Amino acid sequence: MKAQVLTSFGGPQSFELRDVPKPVPQAGQVLVRVQATSINPLDYQVRRGDYADLVPLPGITGHDVSGVVEEVGPGVTAFAPGDEVWYTPQIFDGPGSYAEYHVAAESIVGKKPASLTHLEAASLTLVGGTAWEALAVRAQLKAGESILIHGGAGGVGHVVIQVAKAMGARVFTTVKEDNFEFARSLGADVVIDYTKEDYVEAIQRETGGHGVDVVFDTIGGDTLTRSPDVLAQLGRVVSIVDIAAPQNLIQAWGKNASYHFVFTRQNRGKLDELSALIERGQLKPHVGAVYSLADIPLAHARLESRDNGLRGKIAIAVGPLADHTSAQA
Ligand SMILES: NC(=O)c1ccc[n+]([C@@H]2O[C@H](COP(=O)([O-])OP(=O)(O)OC[C@H]3O[C@@H](n4cnc5c(N)ncnc54)[C@H](OP(=O)(O)O)[C@@H]3O)[C@@H](O)[C@H]2O)c1
Repeated sequence: MKAQVLTSFGGPQSFELRDVPKPVPQAGQVLVRVQATSINPLDYQVRRGDYADLVPLPGITGHDVSGVVEEVGPGVTAFAPGDEVWYTPQIFDGPGSYAEYHVAAESIVGKKPASLTHLEAASLTLVGGTAWEALAVRAQLKAGESILIHGGAGGVGHVVIQVAKAMGARVFTTVKEDNFEFARSLGADVVIDYTKEDYVEAIQRETGGHGVDVVFDTIGGDTLTRSPDVLAQLGRVVSIVDIAAPQNLIQAWGKNASYHFVFTRQNRGKLDELSALIERGQLKPHVGAVYSLADIPLAHARLESRDNGLRGKIAIAVGPLADHTSAQA
């Protein structure tokens, strides 16, 4: 099978499109013909060596799969050949999804929502699973509460807006002005241009000084230390980004705040929760660009560059879909 193999840690050209052996499903595993995958910041962080100790080279990376079950290993009961499935491979535990075939434990595999294309489904597994874990499991966002979502036009943020609205929250989000309409179309109630206005002042003004119940952090930097300035009493902060330096969170004490740190975990339950939102028309990923398996280096370079004009996700067409999609948008 064809796969993009990471041969060394470095720039986007560190990948080589190679022929490698097709994996064989073991007990409890399914072999999936990958139709689509997608690009996440985690992918370029892995590529450049941020997690070098956890990633053996040469290796196949990639963290989203949408595809079709080709074969099942002994003991698999939930799936049969021909089933359309979606999932995030176990992170830092075995080969990733930049390949024509992938094997995974059936426990982390979900039934792909029928209304999504493979490109859309592959754009959602990691970011959607993260959104669900952050809002439902950790922050326990409730109907009638409010949330500030940093980075609402990004891969994670554009999904978190939709999930928060589906949960009945009032949504404030930071995006550039170019993305105001996009964020509103996803359900954002209040949009804040973070390049022109300080978000703390905007939240104070928009909430009459009350603050928000939840802050969702996709940015890092000083977001954790500044969150108490925008939190209501008993507020919660959920961060999905690495903390580069020690943070002084003493201001959070006065708000009775709690902080949650999320590194997304894989399980079928989360995917099924997302499927229910999709079926109810409350969630749809936005595919901002599509590249082929061969063009993964270009897709990495695009996501990694700050001024990339992207909204939502970059999807990767694998296999037959690559015949009618190429680098675009
Ligand atoms: N812990 C986990 O499980 C987990 C899971 C998924 C992602 N992550 C992490 O979460 C982060 C975001 O991921 P992603 O997939 O959403 O990345 P992405 O698709 O690159 O989106 C990032 C977004 O943030 C915006 N942005 C940049 N600086 C900003 C600022 N100061 N204020 C507001 N918005 C800002 C960018 O918009 P413009 O540049 O166009 O303004 C872009 O829309 C990454 O660091 C990723 O590694 C963690």
